[in-house]
Amino acid sequence: MPSSSDKPLDKAELTEGDVNLSARRLSWQQANVDKATHKTLGRDLAAFLHQSLSTPCLTELIGCDGIYLTDAAGRRYMDFHGNSLHQIGHAHPRVVEAVKRQLDVLAFCPRRFTNQPAISLAERLTKLAPGSLAKVLFAPGGTAAIGIAMKLARYATGRHKTISMLDSFHGASLDAISIGGEALFRDGLGPLLPGCFHVAWPNAEADAEAIERILVEEGDIGAIIAEPMRCTTIDLPPDSYWRRVRELCDQHGTLLVFDEIPLALGRTGRMFCCEHSGVTPDILVLGKGLGGGVMPMAAAIARVDLDIAPDRALGHYTHEKSPLGAAAALATLEVIESENLLERSRKLGTQSIGKLRELQQRYESIVDVRGLGLAIGVELNCHNAAERVLYDCLAKGLSFKISNGTVLTLTPPLTITDEEMSEAIKILDTALGQL
Ligand SMILES: Cc1ncc(COP(=O)(O)O)c(C=O)c1O
Repeated sequence: MPSSSDKPLDKAELTEGDVNLSARRLSWQQANVDKATHKTLGRDLAAFLHQSLSTPCLTELIGCDGIYLTDAAGRRYMDFHGNSLHQIGHAHPRVVEAVKRQLDVLAFCPRRFTNQPAISLAERLTKLAPGSLAKVLFAPGGTAAIGIAMKLARYATGRHKTISMLDSFHGASLDAISIGGEALFRDGLGPLLPGCFHVAWPNAEADAEAIERILVEEGDIGAIIAEPMRCTTIDLPPDSYWRRVRELCDQHGTLLVFDEIPLALGRTGRMFCCEHSGVTPDILVLGKGLGGGVMPMAAAIARVDLDIAPDRALGHYTHEKSPLGAAAALATLEVIESENLLERSRKLGTQSIGKLRELQQRYESIVDVRGLGLAIGVELNCHNAAERVLYDCLAKGLSFKISNGTVLTLTPPLTITDEEMSEAIKILDTALGQL
């Protein structure tokens, strides 16, 4: 919550990312961006449609490797943001090598044909996925995969209505913003999809009552769509909440769709976040890190008996069975396994949360530290403090995102070393100390 000394946030600030038009952003650029890069930013401003959370941009990047980004002035940033796609770090050599090798063999696969990497990836994912999730469809991005899940739920249940969470983000297209709950993405756009009900983000098992009420009153809800943990603000409902929602879905013939686009593949210390609660959805949606941070790649994995629409188009995307995306994803899964990144995420996550809680003892500005694996949220008492810490950390070489105005969202690559993590926490410590 903003403190009384902090001005209330407008809707654009209470969003899933940090604001790109703030005064603090401008003064950071004046102090940290050189003349040549200002020129580049000017070209970016002239060439691209302006929109929140992207153009105008902060600065120019010329490199990314491992946990680091390098800007045009040669400054290196530890990337604790990475749009949540860098579980294995940037440009992992095994992924780059796999994509290069695949480029020489089969760079593209038009629809109507298939290819070995795509089939192997689908097989691999269905082996990894919990329960009877055993049928896959690929898409070139997370939003498109969410659209596939929404369509499949309609075909399977004959119902179009959905329940999702207020303030959630499931992608920026019109179907995804209909189930998403963030004002920034919805306001001023006119009518969205009908029948999209929203409930407040849950904190306790009893909050499942809000879902039950809608299921009973409407009687024809096709799907409940949610992240098992909200990745931006790192809010994790209790396991019993998801168990109750699962029960309700089964009672009412409603499908449960988990959006694990930023969470799957080890971010929370398990391959899939839903493994923590043991609740298996009917459709699981993956994206982001699936392409190893190199190729755009996403997937919807459905219960085997949901293969019910052979004469319909669920996802008709040009880059559907992308051999390059699949090669990147297969290499990513190998890296997660061979570098033992699930355990790494659990261990380093627990350690880091402990260290950040020590900071909480010292700084009044920290109101909460929470996390699961290497998805960590540090909630500050006001937006002003969060922005000051962000820009100070950026100047010192640490990049992360601010969510909902006050939460520092820390999602480092799972490949980060203990020393690098300690250095990042030291940077945060210094920035918090200077508030
Ligand atoms: C929870 C969640 N769902 C869906 C998406 C959309 O994925 P994409 O940007 O790949 O379309 C995102 C992206 O940030 C996300 O965080």
